Amino acid sequence: MTRLAITELKAMQERREKIPMLTAYDYPTAKLLDDAGVPMILVGDSLGMVVLGYDSTLPVTIEDMIRHGQAVVRGTQRAIVVVDMPFLSYQVSVEEALRNAGRILKETGATAVKLEGGQTVAPTVQRLVEAGIPVMGHLGLTPQSVNQLGGYRMQAKTPAAVVKLINDASALERAGAFAIVLETVPANVARMVTEKVGVPTIGIGAGPYCDGQVQVLHDFLGLYPDFLPRHARRFAELSGTIIDAVKSYIGEVQAGEFPTAKESFGLDKARRMADASAPAEESRPYGGAGALESRSRS
Ligand code: KIV
Repeated sequence: MTRLAITELKAMQERREKIPMLTAYDYPTAKLLDDAGVPMILVGDSLGMVVLGYDSTLPVTIEDMIRHGQAVVRGTQRAIVVVDMPFLSYQVSVEEALRNAGRILKETGATAVKLEGGQTVAPTVQRLVEAGIPVMGHLGLTPQSVNQLGGYRMQAKTPAAVVKLINDASALERAGAFAIVLETVPANVARMVTEKVGVPTIGIGAGPYCDGQVQVLHDFLGLYPDFLPRHARRFAELSGTIIDAVKSYIGEVQAGEFPTAKESFGLDKARRMADASAPAEESRPYGGAGALESRSRS
């Protein structure tokens, strides 16, 4: 299957077809998202919060992003994969940003990087784009600046802040960004930005007028039962499903109901013979992915 190109996003925008995007951080989830047909996956530095358990995205490293980016690329065949540049991997100098963005693309096989900020990072965006690295911008609530913003709060609430947001978006577009994430800004402000810039806007907590929407996987799947950001909707309640499954497992192991002969090896002769005549792949637990072969030895 051919992987979608970033030019497809512009084509979707021109067809007025909304662009759905989700985050993913690992191989199996990325594979499910890709199989379901999501055209674009973000390996977000939200990784730090929803997967690694930090209380902000600031501790995430370039190595974290590369490791998880590699897994997501391995799990996908069709989706455009965008990898976040973590805090301080692009702010120190344009050269360092180029080196780090280049590492991300070379070592993960992803299509593009995303970075936060507007006019101040526009020269960096331009340099990356000139070097052939597609860049997605990120404006509004930029989580890497949480300490400066004073929390995860709505942005662009004053006329001056709205003007700055529009100028930032225009600067990113001029620098060559192929799309811009707008996070936690009023819906009518996101609409103004979307009408102003030619590149697709991808909203999160930015209302319905953006060209696309992005959601964090763990919010969308209901993996955190006690927390749901105002802008998110649970499309599934997986925390309940997982807790029920684990409780059933505990109960069945303790009652001696798991495993039975069906899930055991060598309990009777017929089963042994059937095992021996089965093709090798059938005894592989995960369908024969080479990387998982060692699991079948247990
Ligand atoms: O890191 C992330 O998941 C993001 C989205 C919230 C857009 O940047």
